[in-house]
Amino acid sequence: MLDLLIEETLETQVTGKILTIQRHIMEMERQYPQASGDFSGLLYDICMAAKQISYHVNKAGLMNLLGKEGTENVHGEQVKKLDIFAHETFVKALDHGGHLCVMGSEEERDIIPIPEEYPIGKYVCLFDPLDGSSNIDVNVSIGTIFSIHKRVDPSETGAGTLEDCLQPGWKQVCAGYVIYGSSTMIVYTAGNGVHGFTLDPSYGEFILSHENIQIPKRGSIYSVNESNFDYWDEGFKNYIRWVKKIDEKTNRPRNCRYIGSMVADIHRNLLYGGVFCYPADLKDPSKPSGKLRLLYEAAPMAFIVEQAGGKATTGTQRILDIEPDGLHQRVPVIIGSEEDVTVVEEFMQGLRV
Ligand code: AHG
Ligand code: MN
Ligand code: MN
Repeated sequence: MLDLLIEETLETQVTGKILTIQRHIMEMERQYPQASGDFSGLLYDICMAAKQISYHVNKAGLMNLLGKEGTENVHGEQVKKLDIFAHETFVKALDHGGHLCVMGSEEERDIIPIPEEYPIGKYVCLFDPLDGSSNIDVNVSIGTIFSIHKRVDPSETGAGTLEDCLQPGWKQVCAGYVIYGSSTMIVYTAGNGVHGFTLDPSYGEFILSHENIQIPKRGSIYSVNESNFDYWDEGFKNYIRWVKKIDEKTNRPRNCRYIGSMVADIHRNLLYGGVFCYPADLKDPSKPSGKLRLLYEAAPMAFIVEQAGGKATTGTQRILDIEPDGLHQRVPVIIGSEEDVTVVEEFMQGLRV
């Protein structure tokens, strides 16, 4: 009985039919007669990688995939076994499809070329293979983030370059994330709204479950690692003081929710409304711009949240307008519901105290 109910809900609640992510992409592409099908092929490869990672995340405790790998990555962070597994899975899933000319990963210092034996394509893919590493070993939601650009010169047929990777976020043609949570979901935008698909483990398919996601204009959640308070500048400290003050008229204090996996924190805020912040801090003089990486985390999430009607800024600049100066560049991130982000900006710019 329950089975029947659930199946019926899935089939009728959405569009009256089950729509897989592949069908969804193909139907979108059909609106553009000039589309070569290359893009849907690339998305297909990403979904394949996502399913493999999801399977291993679910069984990590049984497959000796928990714990540290024993090395540090380019960011000086302890690498976990699942970080490496997810990185290798992504590279292997994407390197031979003929869609990409180059890749970049949070876990790799330099650009990742397409092996010589495989065809070169016109797209560039940058990714954070496993986001929320600190949550891997404790069965808390983690994710994968990806960002796709067209190569700078589409008539070029040779290997992609660093320049192809260092493009501003507004030029992304697609961005998405996978969340490995109580269910696995992929959420993506190709500049035409934000759509969410839930992995049906019995079909092994991502099925449309969240069509055209719109983030509420204002929310009641703020997400930040408040242990950094003493390292923040006065403007951001003032925002945090404000957000915790009791004031019924402005719905304060707001609720603090912080998982420590950007994907999970932003996914929740996308659906409920609210703001996620990782501002610059003085904690580590080698990271004056905060912790999050522009190309693998900030820019793709900014594209998704803007497409859902939200806003993403460093506090002084729209994230999608930043011209990257390095593969692993970090930027402050204030991202979420439009009105909430604007309030944070006003504090950061000293317009409110
Ligand atoms: P990653 O696991 O890819 O290194 O990213 C971790 C990031 C992000 O997911 C999260 O929001 C943030 O780091 C948490 O950092 P703190 O532990 O400093 O709060
Ligand atoms: Mn990350
Ligand atoms: Mn990561």
